[in-house]
Amino acid sequence: MSLRLLITGATGQIGWQLQRTLAPLGEVIASTRAQLDLADPEAAAKTVRELAPAIVVNAAAYTAVDKAESEPELAHTVNAVAPGRIAQELSRTGGLLIHYSSDYVFDGAKPCPYEETDPTAPLNVYGRTKLGGEQSIAASGCAHIILRTTWVYDIRGKNFLRTVLRLAREREELRMVGDQIGAPTWARTIAESTAQIAARSAQQRNSHGWGYDGVFHLTAAGQTTWAGFAEQILEDYDSLASWPADTGEFGSPLMAKRVVPITSEQYKAPARRPHNSLLSNARLQSIFGLRMPDWRVQLRLALQDAVR
Ligand SMILES: NC(=O)c1ccc[n+]([C@@H]2O[C@H](COP(=O)([O-])OP(=O)(O)OC[C@H]3O[C@@H](n4cnc5c(N)ncnc54)[C@H](OP(=O)(O)O)[C@@H]3O)[C@@H](O)[C@H]2O)c1
Repeated sequence: MSLRLLITGATGQIGWQLQRTLAPLGEVIASTRAQLDLADPEAAAKTVRELAPAIVVNAAAYTAVDKAESEPELAHTVNAVAPGRIAQELSRTGGLLIHYSSDYVFDGAKPCPYEETDPTAPLNVYGRTKLGGEQSIAASGCAHIILRTTWVYDIRGKNFLRTVLRLAREREELRMVGDQIGAPTWARTIAESTAQIAARSAQQRNSHGWGYDGVFHLTAAGQTTWAGFAEQILEDYDSLASWPADTGEFGSPLMAKRVVPITSEQYKAPARRPHNSLLSNARLQSIFGLRMPDWRVQLRLALQDAVR
């Protein structure tokens, strides 16, 4: 029997990639903010009720981490209240909610990668609202898989990779934070893993539910800092690019020669960030058999896709 899957946030980094990776699983409805606005939780829940999907993959979120400090109510509605309302709808129909959360639910003080069972202690408004989303989904009683990921990038959308390439065309020196560690994770890899998780859940579905549920960490393997990530972007880009014909975003030479690490304090972002964003993927591997590739391998593949 064919599945109906609903993607929210189809214009986002992960949402865009999901449209391709979920396609083999059944009928995919990809909704944008105009079609399903999480700022109006009742309307979002009504849309879910009318569409009656078996699986909702919620890739929509309020993701502007610094802006959330001055818009806490909107961020809370979008990231915590609306996912809870969608989960309540799915709990009535026995549907599955796959939802994304963040390493920002932790304070980053742990000296090694976080496990799913570690205590949460968000440092900023965005992190608190993402934790609120996890809690409202769990409280709904609906079958759910919450995938916490980190440092997401793609060759489209708003992200660090594209910011670095833009700045690298304007300046010789890039100053990037060097005291936060994490694992940059390609949106495509997240979407591919999500499709495998959804397929496995659909296979296991029976009158008792969808098999495993709960929180899973899903990030690239390995670790770096923002400064290290920027250095690798410049190095890979230079070694892959070939000129001179194309002058587009991924087809012109860079001016930047070096990356200078700075501290989080020097960067002065409005929202505090955890110093350690590393998440352990052990549970994902043991339950779903998914082994996440190293961030450097992913970055090179992403750039190979973009650079002509
Ligand atoms: N980006 C990261 O580094 C990161 C790290 C950890 C976890 N995550 C989580 O991963 C998930 C996907 O993130 P992403 O990086 O793919 O996000 P993204 O590229 O910023 O895209 C966010 C998506 O949500 C939509 N959206 C925003 N407000 C909305 C609203 N009120 N109603 C409906 N849709 C709305 C956006 O629509 P518009 O195009 O109309 O704005 C866009 O489609 C989120 O849950 C995020 O919290 C992200």
